Amino acid sequence: MEASRLAVRVPRTRAEEVRRMLLRQGLYDGSRSIVESGDSVLMPVLGYPQIGFEVVEADLPASKRPRPVSMRAAFDIVGDIAVLNDMDLSPEKAHELALEIVGRHRRVRTVLQKTAEVSGEERVASYRVVYGEADTETVHRESGCLFKLDVARTFFSPRLSGERLRVASQVGEGETVLDMFAGVGPFSIIIARRNPSATVYAVEKNPAAFKYLCENIELNKLRGRVKPFQGDAAQTVPALDTNFNRIIMNLPHSSTKYLPAAVEKAAEKATIHLYVVEDRKTPGSARQAVESSLRNLQIVGERTVKEVSPKALMRVYDIKVGGSSL
Ligand SMILES: C[S@@+](CC[C@H](N)C(=O)[O-])C[C@H]1O[C@@H](n2cnc3c(N)ncnc32)[C@H](O)[C@@H]1O
Repeated sequence: MEASRLAVRVPRTRAEEVRRMLLRQGLYDGSRSIVESGDSVLMPVLGYPQIGFEVVEADLPASKRPRPVSMRAAFDIVGDIAVLNDMDLSPEKAHELALEIVGRHRRVRTVLQKTAEVSGEERVASYRVVYGEADTETVHRESGCLFKLDVARTFFSPRLSGERLRVASQVGEGETVLDMFAGVGPFSIIIARRNPSATVYAVEKNPAAFKYLCENIELNKLRGRVKPFQGDAAQTVPALDTNFNRIIMNLPHSSTKYLPAAVEKAAEKATIHLYVVEDRKTPGSARQAVESSLRNLQIVGERTVKEVSPKALMRVYDIKVGGSSL
């Protein structure tokens, strides 16, 4: 289905609840309008949310209004920390929202406001404290696993939870998996927990993220099942002692640069999940990288994971090595 025509069919009574959920996941498409359809509404989405409602194709009209305020004021909750994503919020408005969030979410003890977008090789953002203690370390629970992390020193996005489950559910019996840009370990750990016969190699360069990756392996009792390697994937991956049935490349701004190293280590019929940031109107960077590979690669699936900015989307390409389809 074409991503620009996707919608979820939601009972009218649950419309507002679902809209907020989609906003939090970064999957609500504010450029198109919601349309009523009997007892339901068709709500525009950018990808396939894992929320249990039917996804359909629909020609929804363009939205006449600017993006809703709640979209700009969207927040994420990581463990007991809430993060306001709108860097333009005034200190007064940010504080007002913080009080509202703390009132609604009992677990939240600190509210941060983003002051600089995720950037640099380590993909870390900057924050200021709006409410509560200036302690940015927390423990987040996702899909039955625990993730200790420092919001200000490591990358972590709860908006990728659906995507992590999608990948974890594809893992087959006895697979050896490579998580090339593992961060604090969410793909690696969820895959290992849900697939007891799988072994995961997790590579991470940022020393702070690597420290939490190692702690999270222990926290989730996965010693030996998830093998951590600290270093740059460009050098670390070629030195690994095995080939892989599945390779996860979640470094969307520069993943294609590492595709040759991944392909080199891919077993025959392996699947590579390549995450990229693409211009909404002119996608194509992933296709170019796939077409210039020395091995026979075939794109067997592609989808939008979330909106990165009004112009850019994070997308994933599922690539089969060896040319046969899934
Ligand atoms: C977008 S984050 C994804 C982290 C994790 N997969 C997740 O879903 O939370 C990318 C991670 O790759 C790490 N990284 C960046 N360049 C790297 C490289 N050349 N080799 C290994 N890790 C790298 C960053 O430090 C960061 O933790």
